Amino acid sequence: MIKGIDHIGIAVRSLDETLPIYDALFGLKPAHFESLEREGVRLVFIPVGDDNVEFLEPTKPEAALTKFLERRGEGIHHICLKTDDIVADLKSLAAKGVELVDKEPRIGSEGRRVAFLHPKAARGVLIELAEEL
Ligand code: CO
Repeated sequence: MIKGIDHIGIAVRSLDETLPIYDALFGLKPAHFESLEREGVRLVFIPVGDDNVEFLEPTKPEAALTKFLERRGEGIHHICLKTDDIVADLKSLAAKGVELVDKEPRIGSEGRRVAFLHPKAARGVLIELAEEL
């Protein structure tokens, strides 16, 4: 069951160029850096009160994120919803015929189980599900 918004994901070309901007604008500091080798992504979480913004930078030319930046430019990439049971939610979405990028959860940042819906399923918005720790 969906419990709330976990984070907003923002695609950028360079974390090194982006992070000082959010610090200068709002005094927001990164809390957690991580590289997802398989996805070709380096990411950082910036806490905003009780919520988080995730900034994503591609590390490989063939990464899906590189293609996203070429097509759409920098900006909001996905919205992540928090769930208490990702397997049950994926099953129920599949039963409704929803187009899923991941039929089974994969391991995302901080070792959490995550899965993406196809943007076609939600009016052009890429939705990530992440299981609560
Ligand atoms: Co995310």
